Amino acid sequence: MKRIFLDLGKQSIANGFLKENEIENEYFYNLSIGFNEKIKLVSLMNFVDGTIMFNDSYVYHSSSSKTMRDHFKSVADMIKEHFNPNSILEIGSNDGVFLKHFHKKNVVAVEPCSNFAKITHKMGYKTYAEFWDKNLAEKIENKHGKMDLVYAANCICHIPNLDETFSAINNILNDDGIIIFEDPSLLEMLERNSYDQIYDEHAHIFSVLALNNILKKNGLEIFKVENIKPHGGSNRIFTKELLGRYDIDKSVNENIDLELKKGLDKFKTYEKFAERVQNSKQDLINLLKDLKAKGKKIISYGATSKSSIIFNFCEIDTKYIDYIIDTTPDKQEKLSPGMHIPVISPEEGLNETVDYAFLGAWNYEKEILNKEKNFIDRGGKFITHVPYVRILQ
Ligand code: TMP
Repeated sequence: MKRIFLDLGKQSIANGFLKENEIENEYFYNLSIGFNEKIKLVSLMNFVDGTIMFNDSYVYHSSSSKTMRDHFKSVADMIKEHFNPNSILEIGSNDGVFLKHFHKKNVVAVEPCSNFAKITHKMGYKTYAEFWDKNLAEKIENKHGKMDLVYAANCICHIPNLDETFSAINNILNDDGIIIFEDPSLLEMLERNSYDQIYDEHAHIFSVLALNNILKKNGLEIFKVENIKPHGGSNRIFTKELLGRYDIDKSVNENIDLELKKGLDKFKTYEKFAERVQNSKQDLINLLKDLKAKGKKIISYGATSKSSIIFNFCEIDTKYIDYIIDTTPDKQEKLSPGMHIPVISPEEGLNETVDYAFLGAWNYEKEILNKEKNFIDRGGKFITHVPYVRILQ
């Protein structure tokens, strides 16, 4: 049913930063993505087993950037103001960046990465270190009852089986309960040529169009859509039971109409995107080659899963990028997945010898450019590939 439109080649786990002695056992798979013409859903051709990606050594901390800390504070404020729920279930609670804004007695958390589940458990929040599915939903309902609100950020798109996921959520919701979830937007990915949104963790990249079809199949419907900034452009989807209490906001049809206008229901649109991706790859390689020929030192800024995909797809290794800098201690002194570029701290790595920094964390461009005034003032330059490959002026 899925028709392939882009092959990103041999990849390793995008967040799988590793030690030298782990190289021997590094996991590789073929990353390609396709379009389901019936439900209009874009998904990986082959899903990677969840336990390989989400385990006790997962390294992505939601709290690691000010942008995301501020973001989750504002979602929590919005939820309190508009919905004032007595019970909240968060699926994919990471390090507690969202749930810490709510009282412990009101929240149940689900987080399969046990290193993070331990953190929120210590903070006093009941946390299930398990994958979300029908069985876990039943277990939680038996213990804690039904929920007023289910929240999930950058999590639902990680789960291969969407029918089971949504029907299990529907079962645990109170009659007037709602689901709010946010994930990267397919339209934004197409417009920005940000093919690095495609990686092992993102089993699907959602359009509102596809979600509308899948939710309806599971007795749910979207009543509002917000286009939000995180992760290079995401959609926040407000969902209720079919024929439930809330009125349908005009943002639902506005988003669907725009997606149809941009051709998100047609395979041809994805074929054209794939052509742009191949061009982006060639442009990036050419730019890096050119700078190297001029004797420039290039590093990468942000050891992101996105940059792992780019480096593997474009076969960019230490020939071009000396090292990657990242603030996350768990990623430092490790190697990038696949291409094995060393990761070090910004304090150590962002010094006077650096001429160019590739924005691996391009989705934090504003925060980073603000923070790195010294680097820019002394002539340092950033490179980005979004929406096209260039040196930022
Ligand atoms: P993400 O794109 O998956 O959110 O990952 C962002 C990564 O970038 C994370 O490892 C932290 C890192 N980072 C920095 O090292 N410095 C920064 O200023 C920002 C904003 C992020």
